[in-house]
Amino acid sequence: MCGIVSYVGEEPKATRLLLQGLKSLEYRGYDSSGIALLNDTLSVYKNKGKILDLEKSLSTLSDEEREKLDQSICGIGHTRWATHGEPSDINAHPHMDSDGTIAVVHNGIIRNYIKLKKELIYKGYTFKSDTDTEVIANLFSYIRKDLIAKGEYEDFLAMRLLSSRLEGSYALAILLNESVNPNTTQPAKRILLAKHESPLVIGVGQSENFAASDSDTVLQFTDSIIRLADREFAVISKNTIDIQDFEGNMIKPVIEVLKKNDSLMDKKGYKHFLLKEINEQPTVLSKMLSLIEDSTYENFKLINFNINFAEIEKIYCIACGSAYHSAQALKYILGSWCSLPVDVIVASEFNFQHKLIGERDLLIGVSQSGETADTILALQKAKSAGARLLAITNRPASAINNLCGANTYITPADLEISVASTKAYTSQLMAHYLLALQIATARKAISREFFTDILHNLKTLPVLLDQMLNRANHYKAAAVNFAGYRDFIFLSRGINHTTAMEGALKLKELSYAHASAYPSGELKHGPIAILDENVPVISIAIPSIYPDEQIIYEKIIHNALEAKTRKSPSILLTTDSNQDHVEEFDLVMRIPDIDQLFSPILATIPLQFLAYFIAENLGKDVDQPRNLAKSVTVE
Ligand code: M6R
Repeated sequence: MCGIVSYVGEEPKATRLLLQGLKSLEYRGYDSSGIALLNDTLSVYKNKGKILDLEKSLSTLSDEEREKLDQSICGIGHTRWATHGEPSDINAHPHMDSDGTIAVVHNGIIRNYIKLKKELIYKGYTFKSDTDTEVIANLFSYIRKDLIAKGEYEDFLAMRLLSSRLEGSYALAILLNESVNPNTTQPAKRILLAKHESPLVIGVGQSENFAASDSDTVLQFTDSIIRLADREFAVISKNTIDIQDFEGNMIKPVIEVLKKNDSLMDKKGYKHFLLKEINEQPTVLSKMLSLIEDSTYENFKLINFNINFAEIEKIYCIACGSAYHSAQALKYILGSWCSLPVDVIVASEFNFQHKLIGERDLLIGVSQSGETADTILALQKAKSAGARLLAITNRPASAINNLCGANTYITPADLEISVASTKAYTSQLMAHYLLALQIATARKAISREFFTDILHNLKTLPVLLDQMLNRANHYKAAAVNFAGYRDFIFLSRGINHTTAMEGALKLKELSYAHASAYPSGELKHGPIAILDENVPVISIAIPSIYPDEQIIYEKIIHNALEAKTRKSPSILLTTDSNQDHVEEFDLVMRIPDIDQLFSPILATIPLQFLAYFIAENLGKDVDQPRNLAKSVTVE
């Protein structure tokens, strides 16, 4: 989703740093990009397409224009993910006011922009784009001119007036050409920032300051950051950082010193970030197991949540996309280990359900980025309904961590650059097992023997996963056979319905093929109608030593064979030593022997590879699939 980067300093490196910053925001997903530089006047350069396209067009500028780029010490940059107006050069950010004295970049959505636009057109402002953002540039221009005319102009006052008119979410960076305000005593080279429900952090340097949507972007340039809170403004120049809240109170900046991030964009020799991240999964899982705070049966603690799990009557899990799939596993695990009911709800559908939540219920939000607008909103609603909150996120510097505080478990998967989730997803699965173990032991729901067995199984996962990475070529060979198909069905039941949904999502995201997942029992209730020789069916069937789960396995096999009788190319995903019915499938993909209950992490790996190799075979943009954003910061 949209990304912002800003720089103000004394060395002529604005253009270089803005482009570098934008490249580190590419992973968020975007369709166009641009920069605005403040010299004697404001200059805007923007393009539909990749940052590479922007760089190409910058390289064709006249010597005079190039000189401006090379001398700039102050600027703002943006990657746009279209919400209002198609991806195009004109709709790309930065946007300027009609007079060309203000440049704005924006992440978020202004809900009342049509009303404001009409008002501004009536006042004589003109618009070039279809975006909501251009309204902000013209509205700010109007407010500024009015205050200057009255001799009352002040940055924070102008921003307060601006935000009092805006409805919606926004992170903003604004550049002002001071030639229209000659009496100002403020540094001419400064950037105005605002944060309201969209991420924005400030980076503090020596005689230079930065701002970006992402702390990792800023950490390429400096190790000191200030996290702006919601409803805060800031004005940064090379030597000053002033912060004020939307009510007009000055805020004392709190500077955090973090580890500098030099290697953000390093693929470490892999062709794609996705492949690198698939290969990082064993390390992430090992790290999670080594970080368990207390692994004794008596007092098992993933971390010390401030929640009495013995008292909980019901759990609601809210999440989107892959995080939502992972939460389905928690439902099965807790249902099986302690008969605790878990409702898993897509965050954007949670709107009215918070009214069902009682005092003894727990709401768990799961989000890789910790910035997903739908998930944040659902957590906020549950909080105001009095629910206890717990969060699982991959990003310590995130809104969700801020909201849930000490009851946040941070998965140690580190930054996930590829838009399609792999290591963050499997780390969420592991987090669910460990959280379930904490809940089950707190409720004394499982025996010491079963507890020991569970931990043993979880500890084998990183080792088995590591071995599986050596099978990449085997999965590649399978993938190549299926690259030509446009429709796929994924089937499973029980805990691996999670895996079927995630497998289908990966394939859709990476290859743009249509893929649907069903609990296999549903096949004959409708989906079977589409089956023929053009629709491969991938069935995930993992045997179990537990009788209930073994019945699930047998039923999946039977449903898979029903699909085969409709001529669908049939793929079975099962364990190494399983020979049951395997000869009846066109292709068998295997994972190391593991019980069904612990299989979703391993069973996901071949499906990640399948999606990756099909996409690669089709020449798709693996790390930044079309239309997708890494953190979906709008509802
Ligand atoms: O950052 P989040 O986990 O909250 O994001 C949720 C989804 O947007 C995300 O999982 C999305 O489905 C990914 N593209 C999955 O690969």
